[in-house]
Amino acid sequence: MRLDRFLGNLPCYNRQQVRLLLAQGRVRVDGVATADPLLEVREFSRVAVDEQVLQAGHPARYLMLHKPSGCVSATQDPQHRTVLDLLPAALRDELHIAGRLDYNTTGLMILTNDGQWSRRLTQPKTKQPKTYLVHTEDEIGAHYVERFREGFYFAFEDLTTLPAQLDILGPRSARLTIVEGRYHQVKRMFGHFQNKVVALHRESMGSITLDPILHPGEFRALTDAEIASV
Ligand code: URA
Repeated sequence: MRLDRFLGNLPCYNRQQVRLLLAQGRVRVDGVATADPLLEVREFSRVAVDEQVLQAGHPARYLMLHKPSGCVSATQDPQHRTVLDLLPAALRDELHIAGRLDYNTTGLMILTNDGQWSRRLTQPKTKQPKTYLVHTEDEIGAHYVERFREGFYFAFEDLTTLPAQLDILGPRSARLTIVEGRYHQVKRMFGHFQNKVVALHRESMGSITLDPILHPGEFRALTDAEIASV
């Protein structure tokens, strides 16, 4: 919400007072004095007038996890271990998953409590690349490359997938970069050739790459640069 509306919605100030407070430089957002009525105030922002804190803001959390195989990309599951079970209880509150992975898929998983940020990372329209290492049951033909670029029609969603880049690494392995995250997308793309994906590992999302120091099941906080890259 814009700053002037945030202040105006409080019972203590009318619109004229809000204008005056801003002009006098008495309003601080995240510790910085501002006169900008249009500045975005979020649930994470700390807002103060003089020494009075109007909203403490709760801390935004951004984590990368090396998802192991055999764990569900959900915050709760009655049967299986979930990715949240891999985090200490104190960190789990209000986290959601930015881009799910299948039960047996491994690799980069990002968890955050910042919905705006995670939407920028996952929405197809922002075209943030997601890179996967794929191993298949049968050989990957050279003709696949063009088909992945052209896109595949997914009848269930009634859409054609956006151009994807397939780099063939070996007879049964490839690196695939897609900009969407449709349900079982990679498996369905290879399914077009009746070629079963036997192992799938996500290496990166946008410019965030799985940290090689993380073993399966380990996590770390994203750096400021990684957060700002989205
Ligand atoms: N595509 C899939 O088919 N599975 C995943 O886990 C991720 C992308």
